[in-house]
Order: sequence, then structure tokens, then C-alpha cells
Amino acid sequence: MGRRSWASIERFGRWRRAFVVVLTGLLAAGLLSGLLGGWISGLGGWALAAPRTATGAAWKVGTDPTFPPFELRDSSNGQVTGFDLDLIKAIGQEAGHPIQVVPMPFDGIIPALQANSINAAISAITITAQRARSIDFSRPYFKAGQAIVVRVKGPSYTSLEQLKGRRIAVQIGTTGAIAAARVPGAQVSSFDSTPLALQELANGNADAVVSDVPAILYAVQQANLTGLRISGENLSTEYYGIALPTRSPITAQIDAALVSLMESGQYAEIYRRWFDAEPPTLPPSAPVLKEKASALAGLNVQTLAQNLLKGAGITLLLTVLAFSFGLIGGTALAMVLQAPWPLAHRLCRLNIDFFRGTPMLVQLFLIYFGLPALLQNLEIGFTIDRLPAAVTALSLNVAAYLAETLRSGIESIDRGQWEAADALGFSPLERMRFVIAPQAIRRVLPPLANEFITLIKDTSLAAVIGFDELFRQGQLMVATTYRAFDIYIAVALVYLVMTTSASVIFKQLERRLSLPA
Ligand code: ARG
Repeated sequence: MGRRSWASIERFGRWRRAFVVVLTGLLAAGLLSGLLGGWISGLGGWALAAPRTATGAAWKVGTDPTFPPFELRDSSNGQVTGFDLDLIKAIGQEAGHPIQVVPMPFDGIIPALQANSINAAISAITITAQRARSIDFSRPYFKAGQAIVVRVKGPSYTSLEQLKGRRIAVQIGTTGAIAAARVPGAQVSSFDSTPLALQELANGNADAVVSDVPAILYAVQQANLTGLRISGENLSTEYYGIALPTRSPITAQIDAALVSLMESGQYAEIYRRWFDAEPPTLPPSAPVLKEKASALAGLNVQTLAQNLLKGAGITLLLTVLAFSFGLIGGTALAMVLQAPWPLAHRLCRLNIDFFRGTPMLVQLFLIYFGLPALLQNLEIGFTIDRLPAAVTALSLNVAAYLAETLRSGIESIDRGQWEAADALGFSPLERMRFVIAPQAIRRVLPPLANEFITLIKDTSLAAVIGFDELFRQGQLMVATTYRAFDIYIAVALVYLVMTTSASVIFKQLERRLSLPA
């Protein structure tokens, strides 16, 4: 072996050593910070817990800060503020417990309470008989009701009955979602937050949004969403309560603090600050709690199986469509990367870098919510359905990844094969088709299988644009039954069945394509 190759092996060895050192360093740092973090938070807990008589342990309070004016992020400092936050802080002060705000998605709040990972939640949560089976509520602290929002230029619906057969956008797990689900023939699409549901309406992909009056009023009047109006108001009477784990030791403390804030006038002051109005009188307990919980409660295995199967169908559809288009796009990109066109190369690289270098979630939002909003602001009427939006985002991603896989497959074919094809007088296209591609395909089959399996799982991201694929079907069931563990295990198993089947199919294919020994 020549000198140079020794030198390069040695250099490679050095690089490898440096790499190992850096990796070990990173791992050690991660471990240390984890330990340190645990220790510090333990210390914090101890420090807070020690003088229990003066200031009690901090209460961890969950909230979904996407529901102004109840809970929102202050754009200037990123802190969570709002009516609910002012109220819970006053309650904490009254009871002698600092409040630690834990932001979380709305449909995660009840499971978090059930898991006791938070002490309480304040999030404009309506007291319902159904929810009261899984969690406890404080006494009512706010009176609200459902409203219907429509586009200024669209038709008006004043009651839920009029929404029959229409497209309704809602926030997952809310009372608005429950009301919409009861409308016969309505196509309900669920979103992770109310602003997203309103965006869906503004973009023309829904006919109405059903949500709480005060939040909707705020969104329509103060937020940047133009072209929306309320067409039906106070369709129901709902009371908000602070949610707690069942038999929580702090329920009584919270109730007592609420009463004393109401008596001292501090509650009214907070109310005026956010609503510019006098608070109504509130009953000591929500009237609905006297009614019997609806028959919907409980987890029905047959419905679960049906819904998950429906979701799996959509997941499969998305995967197959996105993979097919992605394969076509990836092949095209890989081909162009083989061709002697510098400008085209650069464009391809740009495309690959963009779609590999940005989160798919961002791309989905950009295509589905961003693009129509932008074009409509420019007075260009444009809407995109969720299927084309999801398939576009997913296949652009797949194409970007597959381009590299296919390119390396093509380039791995021995030079001799290319030269032999040239010697036989093949054109570049024939050379690819008859000599290079058949061998390259065999080599890239394992990474193709990887990509396909990854894609099956990645389609769950389409839930954010209101797709009821497998994961969202599970989420929807959790939102009505609060059986998070059982349902997500079932969801995971269905994904597992799908991914293992895919891997078996690819293995078969590989065997079929492999040359006889
Ligand atoms: N009041 C409604 C409910 O309890 C909607 C609450 C939504 N709150 C939120 N922070 N996103 O279902």
C-alpha cells in the first residue's frame, strides 16, 4: 500500500477518533445536564416544599394558550397571559401556592389530569357531566355559550340545525366539537387549536366554526382574521370550571379561594380588565352536573376498531399516493443530477435542501394554511383541499429523500458497466434503462423500504390539517372517552401491523429481484 493511502487511512483514523470523542462528550454532557436538571428541579421542589406553611408547593396548572382572551401568549415576552391566568394566579396567591403554568394541547389536558402530571388545569374548560366522570371541577368561574362563525361573504347559519350537511371546523376535544358531531350529515374537521379552525373557515375550506362566544368575539374583533362574523350566538349555556384530578386534595382550597376573590371584588376587577363588563352572577355548581352523563361515555371496542380501520385506510391512501408521486419526483431529480446541466443541478439541490432541511409540519402548514391565506390577501381566490395539500407536502419530501438514495444507487454501479453499455452503442437513456437502473433498483430497495415505512408514520402529521387519519382517529376517540393509554396502544399496534406488512412485502420484492446465486 502506498504512502499516500497510509496517510489517508491515518487521517481517517484521526477523524474517527475525533468524532468518537465529540460524540462521547455530547452524550456525557446530555447525561450530566439531565441529572443536573433533575437534581435542580428536585432542589426547587424541596425549596418550595420546605416552608409549606408560608408559601406552599407550586401548583402545576395546565392550559392551552391558544384561546384568547382566556389564555394566550403575550407577543412581547412569550409569557402565557389572559383572564384565566390572572384568575388562577390570584387563586394561588389567595391559597398561598405559586402557580407554575404548563402549556399543553387542549385535548391533552384531561389525560394529563388523569395521569396526575398536573395539579389543575384552567383553559376555559366547560363543566360537562361527561367530563365530570373522569375529572373533578371547581365551582363555576365563567358563563359562556356556543356560537357559530361564518364568512362575511358566505351564507349565514343561526342554529346548529341549519348546519345539516355543511362543513364545520372545530377544535378537537371541545364542546364545539361535540355539538358539531351531533349535527346530522355534517362534515366535521378537527384542528389542534381554535385559530386553526378559524383559518380553515377564512380560507374557504369550511362553512362554519362552532366555538365559545367570548373567544370567538375576541378572535373576530381583535385578531388578524378578517372576513369572519358571528351568525348564531349563545346556542347553549356553559359554565367554565377549573379542572382537577378526581378526589384532588386541593379542590376545596381552590373553591374557597374563588369564593373569597368573588366576595372581595378582586374577581370582578379581573373580569372587567379582560371583558370590559360586569361579571354575571354564577351558580355555586353547574346545573349540568345534576343531569345524567350522556350515553356516549365509555370505550366501545367495536367503535374503536371501526374508527381505527377507517383511519388506517386514510393512512394507507396517503402513504401510497405520496410514495408513488415521491418516487416519480425522486427519479426525475436523480436523473437531472446525472445530466450535465449545472443550472438544473443547482435548482435540484435547492429543492432537495429545502424539503430535507425544513420540518414537514412547517411545509404542511405552509401549503395548506399559508398559501391560500397569502393568495386571498392578494385578492386571488385560491383554496386547496386537504388531500392534494397533504399529498403534495408528503411527496415533495419523499422526492427529496429518494433523490439522494436513487442517485447513490446509480453511482454505485461499477464504471465498467457504464463503459460496456457505451461500447455496445447504447444511448445515455438506453444505458440507464437496460443496464444501470435494473442493477441500481436492486441496491436501493432496502433504503426504499425504509423510506416507505417512515412515510407510513409521517402521514400522522396530516392530522394537523384536519385529516382523520389513523393517529387523529385515536385522538378523536380519546377526546370523547379519555382512555388515552388503551387507545394509543391500539393506534400503535395498527401502525405496527402496517409497517411490518410493508417490510415483509419489500423483503419479498428484494428476494424476487435478487440474482440466482
Ligand atoms: N369551552 C370549550 C370546552 O370546554 C372550549 C375550550 C377551549 N379552550 C382552550 N384553551 N382551547 O370544550
